[in-house]
Amino acid sequence: MKTPFIIAVDGPAASGKGTLAAILADDYGLPCLDTGLLYRAVGHLARGADLDDHAGVAALAQGIDAGLLADEALRGRMAGEMASRVAAIPEVRAALKSFQVAFANQPGGAVLDGRDIGTVIAPHAPVKLFVTAEPETRARRRWLQLSAHDPELAYETVLNDIRVRDARDSGRADAPLEKAADALLLDTTDLDIEASIAAARSLVKSRCGA
Ligand code: C5P
Repeated sequence: MKTPFIIAVDGPAASGKGTLAAILADDYGLPCLDTGLLYRAVGHLARGADLDDHAGVAALAQGIDAGLLADEALRGRMAGEMASRVAAIPEVRAALKSFQVAFANQPGGAVLDGRDIGTVIAPHAPVKLFVTAEPETRARRRWLQLSAHDPELAYETVLNDIRVRDARDSGRADAPLEKAADALLLDTTDLDIEASIAAARSLVKSRCGA
């Protein structure tokens, strides 16, 4: 069977991978899935729940629907923090896996962004990007977004959040954040958005020859 045209875009928090994934999906006319939103939705549903009850938290994944995924609350700071906590629970990852695998393997292909797309969800993806940037750069970009809605928010708070999230996402035992051996590295520390898009497009072309 022919491998579908899957573009896997992984990387740490606020690396710009979501923006790049959406643009690449548009370029190639492919459906796009922001897999972080799935973990954010479970984290949102798990507010106040006992996170040691792994089966109970995993069961909340059944309550995710399109309406919840569109909820602006999922984009906030606390949702990101809760997402990374529930994402460290293997039962939660297992509960979300089959949907992501099916999305990736739909006929015609797909673009997915996350932490483990190239390593676990679609290890056979013909194109894999690992998008990263220095923590300070990512924190500044995220702070600029978040402080528009929360003027009291300090840059140092966002930088600390990013460092905690990086450590948790990279240090967990199940599907940690890591670059797949065959992923192409895109470091956007010194690139603005236009240059990042151009670099991502050129890396994809180098892999698929399109
Ligand atoms: O990408 P985003 O920042 O929205 O992801 C929120 C959290 O969800 C991440 O910090 C990570 O812990 C988790 N996540 C994951 N695997 C994915 C996508 C997101 O563990 N494929």
